[in-house]
Amino acid sequence: MTAQTDPPAGIDVPALLAELTLEEKAALLDGSDFWHTEPVERLGVPAIMVTDGPHGLRKQTEDPDHGGIGAAVPATCFPPATALGSTWDVDLLARIGAALGDECRAEQVAVLLGPGVNMKRSPLCGRNFEYFSEDPLLAGELGAALVRGVQSRGVGTSVKHFAANNQETQRMSVSAEVDERTLREIYLPAFERVVTSAQPWTVMCSYNRINGVYASENRWLLTDVLRRDWGYDGLVVSDWGAVNERAAAVHAGLDLEMPSSSGAGQRKILDAVRAGTLSEADVDRAVTRVLTLVDKALPALAPGQTFDADSHHALARDAAAASVVLLKNDGAILPLDPRAGGPIAVVGEFARSPRYQGAGSSQVVPTRLDDALTALRRSVAGAREVTFAPGFVVESGPGDDGLVAEAVAHAQAAEVVVLFLGLPASYESEGYDRAHMDLPAAQIELLDALAAVNRQIVVVLSNGSVVALQPWQDRARAVLEGWLLGQGGGSAVVDLLFGAANPAGKLAETIPVRYADNPTIGAFPGENGAVRYGEGLLIGYRWYDAHQLEVTYPFGHGLSYTTFAYSDLTTSVHDAGSATVVEVGLTVTNTGARAGRETVQVYVSDPACSVFRPEQELKAFAKVTLEPGAGTRVTLTLDARAFSFWHVPLGRWVVEGGSFVIRVGASSRDVRLSGAVVLVGDDVAAPLSPSTPASVWLDHPVAGPRLRAALGPGSMAAMLLGENSAEMMASIPLVRLTRFPGFPIAEQDLAGLAAEANAATPRVH
Ligand code: BGC
Repeated sequence: MTAQTDPPAGIDVPALLAELTLEEKAALLDGSDFWHTEPVERLGVPAIMVTDGPHGLRKQTEDPDHGGIGAAVPATCFPPATALGSTWDVDLLARIGAALGDECRAEQVAVLLGPGVNMKRSPLCGRNFEYFSEDPLLAGELGAALVRGVQSRGVGTSVKHFAANNQETQRMSVSAEVDERTLREIYLPAFERVVTSAQPWTVMCSYNRINGVYASENRWLLTDVLRRDWGYDGLVVSDWGAVNERAAAVHAGLDLEMPSSSGAGQRKILDAVRAGTLSEADVDRAVTRVLTLVDKALPALAPGQTFDADSHHALARDAAAASVVLLKNDGAILPLDPRAGGPIAVVGEFARSPRYQGAGSSQVVPTRLDDALTALRRSVAGAREVTFAPGFVVESGPGDDGLVAEAVAHAQAAEVVVLFLGLPASYESEGYDRAHMDLPAAQIELLDALAAVNRQIVVVLSNGSVVALQPWQDRARAVLEGWLLGQGGGSAVVDLLFGAANPAGKLAETIPVRYADNPTIGAFPGENGAVRYGEGLLIGYRWYDAHQLEVTYPFGHGLSYTTFAYSDLTTSVHDAGSATVVEVGLTVTNTGARAGRETVQVYVSDPACSVFRPEQELKAFAKVTLEPGAGTRVTLTLDARAFSFWHVPLGRWVVEGGSFVIRVGASSRDVRLSGAVVLVGDDVAAPLSPSTPASVWLDHPVAGPRLRAALGPGSMAAMLLGENSAEMMASIPLVRLTRFPGFPIAEQDLAGLAAEANAATPRVH
């Protein structure tokens, strides 16, 4: 099955729906092979092609399969999300998206399957390289920018994997056990932001279950949250093979099953409609969405389109440079001088055989591939001697004495050692999780051996998810966290080593001191088919802050070859409750000698609240570029959501009035400015019922005064309100007190009082 060669004219969806037989409708809700929708030739409905994604196009050329094994057309391999997360650069993401869109057009691909915006819950998730961050705002903003970019070219996206797919172990069946507030505040907002601000053409449901119900047949997720709460009107597609019961999935809101179920899904839909257990209206709704998607896709599918591989490679290289995080730079050993100095010993197999993307469905066949060794030799152009020793065999276990000895000899003769360390490809992949977060022991032993003869060591890391850096980082003067950088990574790293580019990446995830410190200890990857998100809201830095744990590098950290000063914080509050807007202004000045880019981060803290809140949460960020000595005013806008929590009893977002602290920093633990704002809150009076605690009744704006009046001055008032006993009585459900001898309100009157109070509740400030 191939995409059509001439783009047919648009299709009239309502008219078509009326023409289709039930069998044709059921067929349209299933793929026709691995990567195409089903055509209806009789009515001129073409098939369209969808394909991976997310950081490049993986359009298979022969023997289509599932999992990156079959050959694919060459495409630009941009840095995967793990790297792009560290850019904090929405404009860059939009540019990459537009380039991806153009490559899709050239290959007549209608929908690119990405981005993935799942949270990095555990450092061991095997697929962390495909995700942006441990923070929902950052992941959502970057994901939305990528979607906007791709879709600006008339090509669709598929934001995935919706939802709570935070591990690979038993990914097709595990039940993520997550309370609703944690879902709403941590695991859903990145999807919400992408959906509400960028309208992705499709959303891909995940494999796993959420609180026992498969995402593919979770009506709460796919209809109540996605469509009712967020207003989504696009298509929901299954992850490949995620459908459990097809009829239940259609009813839940899953429109398209992928890949082809070889007729099984269609039969089940037809049986269910004929048996009356699935309505034809549900089928029609899903068919309408499939046809609408085909209609949207057609204009961009004209044959004969091309893209500029050179400029896309240049963009991939720039993106890679923007992704690298300079973790440490003792004594400003970096940047190195390409034109003068003694020999540079390049050590480590990754310098000539880059690890530049992760394994699985996202694997791209690059149009070309830069390696750091070649780029470095080219940059010094003979002005400095460059030697190379591989030092280790990437996938082997114990170190090779001969390779170590060779590298040590090079280090001894060199002025500086640039050591490329990283994770072997087999350590992290789609489909399974990592066993630990350490580099291979042989690589650390190599570092030790080199450090014994040369103290001028710069380490460049290649890893899809965080690795432990303690204690070995003490042996390195500088560490560049290079993630997996895509096809331009080799050149980009060299640009940074020599200062042709200035590091500007900031960590999108915390690097803990040790694995044992991370929030999911004891609750990852779960047991008996379920994983309990017991840490609740405390993902990533929220956990390390709450537990006052030392970390190796905090969320948001990243050095530059220049320095920045922050000054003149201003805040202004507009409006109240759910209409609140707070403007934060500050001046950032480049106080060093080089041009550079800084990411200003705004964290909000709510010191007093009726529910538990993380110590601080990222609520806005901005990237500024400054020449040496230059300063600029930065303004960031926070809306009500930046101050809200998900109020479980009320089932909505609530701003609770009071004082909030605004912290502006260069990382989550490098706060440069802070100030307070006082906000007028929302209506936070939860509905009363007879079993609501006495203290809540007493504090209620309507019921409280009535209850106090009824109590009068008697012994019950003394018990409930008296200095010594009030606290003890506070949590007793009021209905229990009505049964105490002498209580002035009868049990049978309580429900009526609650209803009256609920109906009359005014706004509470
Ligand atoms: C992955 C998706 C991918 C799909 C198609 C699945 O196994 O989870 O991310 O888009 O395959 O290759």
